[in-house]
Amino acid sequence: MLEQFKTDVDTGLSSSPKFLSSRFFYDAKGDELFQQIMAMPEYYLTNKEFEIFSQQSDKLIEAFDLKKDEYFELIELGAGDGTKTVELLKALQRQNYEYDYFPIDISQNSLDGLEKMLSEKTPALKVVKKQGDYFGVLSSFKESKKKKVLLFMGSNIGNMNDDRAREFIYKLGENLNPGDKLLIGIDLIKAIEIVGPAYNDPAGITSAFNLNLLNRINRELGGDFDLEKWAHAPEYDEETGYAKSFIKSLVNQTVFISSIGKSFDFKKEEKIHTEISRKYNDTVMKNIISGTDFKLHDKLTDADGWFADYVLIRG
Ligand code: AVI
Repeated sequence: MLEQFKTDVDTGLSSSPKFLSSRFFYDAKGDELFQQIMAMPEYYLTNKEFEIFSQQSDKLIEAFDLKKDEYFELIELGAGDGTKTVELLKALQRQNYEYDYFPIDISQNSLDGLEKMLSEKTPALKVVKKQGDYFGVLSSFKESKKKKVLLFMGSNIGNMNDDRAREFIYKLGENLNPGDKLLIGIDLIKAIEIVGPAYNDPAGITSAFNLNLLNRINRELGGDFDLEKWAHAPEYDEETGYAKSFIKSLVNQTVFISSIGKSFDFKKEEKIHTEISRKYNDTVMKNIISGTDFKLHDKLTDADGWFADYVLIRG
C-alpha cells in the first residue's frame, strides 16, 4: 500500500493538471472525518438513503423478487456501520425470509462493530463477516448457485468516473447469475444550493477531510506541505452532475517529498484534483449500465427525490 501511495502521488503531482486519488483519503483520521461528514446536517445523502431503507423496506423487498421459501445470500459491499441496512434486515426478519447476511468491508474494525450492533438488533440473523477487497471476496461466492442480492449503497459509485463505474458494474455482474439483483444507491442531480453545502460545510469538516490527504503525504511519505498555504476548493456543475473536490495552492510554492526524493512546484491558484462525487439521473445511469449484463429493474427515491436506490437485474 505504501509503495502504491508513493507511486500514485508521484504520478499525480507530476501530471498536468495535477491529481491525487480519493482512495487515499481513508487513513484513521480520514475515516473519523468521514464519519463526521455523514452525521452533518448538510450531508443529506445519508439521511435520504436512510429514509428509503426505513420507510420503503417492503418496496425494496418486492423489488428484489424474493420468495419466502427460497434461500438467498444478501451481500453488502462496503458495509460500514450498517445504520441503513439494519432497517432492511429488520423487515426481512419480521417477514421470515430465509437468508444470511454477508457484509464485506476492508476494515475489520467496522465489521466487528457491525456484528455487535446486529447481535443486539437482529439476534436471530446469521452474519458472515468478510474482510477484504470487494472482488477478492466476491469471487469466493462465484461457485454458489444460490440467489444473490448485492448492495452497494451511499453513492459510493459516484467516486468513479462513468467509464470506471461501467467497468465496476460489469465486473460485479461476472460474479452473479441471471436473475440476481444489484442495488446501487446514488445521489441525484440537483441544485447547487443543496449539493454545494454538502461538500463545503460551514464547520470545515469536509475541508479538513480533503486537506488530510496532504497531512497523510507529510506523515507517510515525508512531505513538507504547509497546510496554511492550501485551501479546500470544491466545484459543482448542476448541468452535468459532476461535483469535484480540489486542493488549491494559495501561493507559488515548492514542496519536497523525501521518500520520492523529488520537489514539486505549484503556482498560486493551481489546483490538485482529489475527488469526483458524481450525481446521476436516469439518462446517465442507463448509459452506464448499457454495456454491462444488467437491466434497470426498479427505482426507489426519498420523498424529496434527492437520492435513489436503483435495483438492477442481471440478465
Ligand atoms: C464516500 N463518498 C460517497 C463520499 C461522497 O459523497 O462522494 C465521500 C465524500 N467526500 C466529501 N464528502 C463526502
